[in-house]
Amino acid sequence: MQQKIIILDFGSQTTQLIARRIRELNTYCEILPYNKFPHDDRSVIGVVLSGSPFSVYDDKAFRTDIAPLMGKYPLLGICYGAQMMAYQGGGMVEPADSREYGRARLAKVEENNPLLRDIAPGAQVWMSHGDTITALPEGYHTIASTDKVAIAAYQKEGEKLWGVQFHPEVYHSECGTRLLENFVVGICGSRQEWSAESFIESTVAKLKEQIGDDKVVLGLSGGVDSSVAAVLLNRAIGKNLTCIFVDHGLLRKNEFADVLRDYEGLGLNVIGVDASKKFFSELAGVTDPERKRKIIGKGFIDVFNEEAQKLTDVSWLGQGTIYPDCIESLSITGTTIKSHHNVGGLPEKMHLKLCEPLRLLFKDEVRRVGRQLGMPEHLISRHPFPGPGLAVRILGDITPEKVAILQEADHIFIQGLRDWGLYDQVWQAGVILLPVQSVGVMGDERTYERAVALRAVTSTDGMTADWVHLPYDFLAEVSNKIINKVKGINRVTYDISSKPPATIEWE
Ligand code: XMP
Repeated sequence: MQQKIIILDFGSQTTQLIARRIRELNTYCEILPYNKFPHDDRSVIGVVLSGSPFSVYDDKAFRTDIAPLMGKYPLLGICYGAQMMAYQGGGMVEPADSREYGRARLAKVEENNPLLRDIAPGAQVWMSHGDTITALPEGYHTIASTDKVAIAAYQKEGEKLWGVQFHPEVYHSECGTRLLENFVVGICGSRQEWSAESFIESTVAKLKEQIGDDKVVLGLSGGVDSSVAAVLLNRAIGKNLTCIFVDHGLLRKNEFADVLRDYEGLGLNVIGVDASKKFFSELAGVTDPERKRKIIGKGFIDVFNEEAQKLTDVSWLGQGTIYPDCIESLSITGTTIKSHHNVGGLPEKMHLKLCEPLRLLFKDEVRRVGRQLGMPEHLISRHPFPGPGLAVRILGDITPEKVAILQEADHIFIQGLRDWGLYDQVWQAGVILLPVQSVGVMGDERTYERAVALRAVTSTDGMTADWVHLPYDFLAEVSNKIINKVKGINRVTYDISSKPPATIEWE
């Protein structure tokens, strides 16, 4: 049976980071809402309680009675998780004099505590809390302090129950990985068997059993997730998988032909559909970003549906959904910034069963699985690209002419990043065609042409991002090339906004 750590989510922004850290320890883990502990799951070897935006005293605070878990599983509370456990045991939690945020160093560390093995005083940790534990319940004792926080970590005597005020999952906590390893491996007894290889082996076996001789249809986007899902399914059921790759005319230069060739090279049974005319006609004159997304989303479903209807006896829809899309979020703020277009809505319409072989994986794990499956590196390490494609990078209405101009400029930028060895240092990059024209001079001629913005960001999950400090010489070369080679562009700018408050895409 595959061992599993459960992370109870109390709404912290770093809950997913805890999961990723534990997965990096080759241990499978799942994030569940704070009140949905799977009491009858016998594969659970330990429980982590996450942080939270709330204070334990807050009316709206998420609370879980930990009594049924105590003594049954090793428990580790992080920040709010630690405060809640202390509070429930009868300890005291109070607002800190000032919100503590940032680096701190462990001053005192209890020797020989299994959670702190190989962690010495002086180790850097990351604090981010408004409340602090001021008194522990009876039978609990402090195992680490910092200058400012007397109870930085504690343990319940004689029990496998720990709390830490700091965030071991954050990269800035130098001893964080060690602490999590002490918990997951040393205390919970993880056999560290979770790997790309073991995932492929067990998933292929499961898919064979689940699907049998049925037929599956899957929509490919050119992106990593759908491609890896397809190759995995192909490994399990071979030609019973049919893939549909729709060209909405808004992909990068040559991308449709190149990726189609890659797919065929991988032995996938793939149908390429050029539907660009349909999309251009439906998008004509549309300037509103959300309407663009809706039109493309619906158009994609229509084309996919039409092609899938031509296939006989299909009973499953394969999708490249990954774990961050599936985590039942606590949605504390609940605002939709941009509606993302995916092929959601398809199964109900088509009466197909849903098969999502990557739904347990984080993006970096999907990449590892792809590599292990022998997929070419350029498919695996390609930058994310939005479903609506260049439509959300052309501000204002979309015409084939504008798409062609943008494709040329984008191609120069992306090829430049590759030539300069910068592509892999950047999480995502692209060019945006702005709805402005400006005056320029070329030779003796006055020009009045379009401006573009280059965008290159670093990120880990697209939720936050920062602009990349690309070398000036590189920017100069790209700008020159674009202005000299792409007819219709006479000005290049560089976007230096971070997310938040900006977003990665302009629309
Ligand atoms: P934003 O612009 O919201 O983008 O900062 C975050 C990440 O999501 C991608 N993105 C999309 N992906 N459909 C998608 O499949 C969409 O409509 C969409 N909009 C943005 C964006 O490229 C970035 O990676």
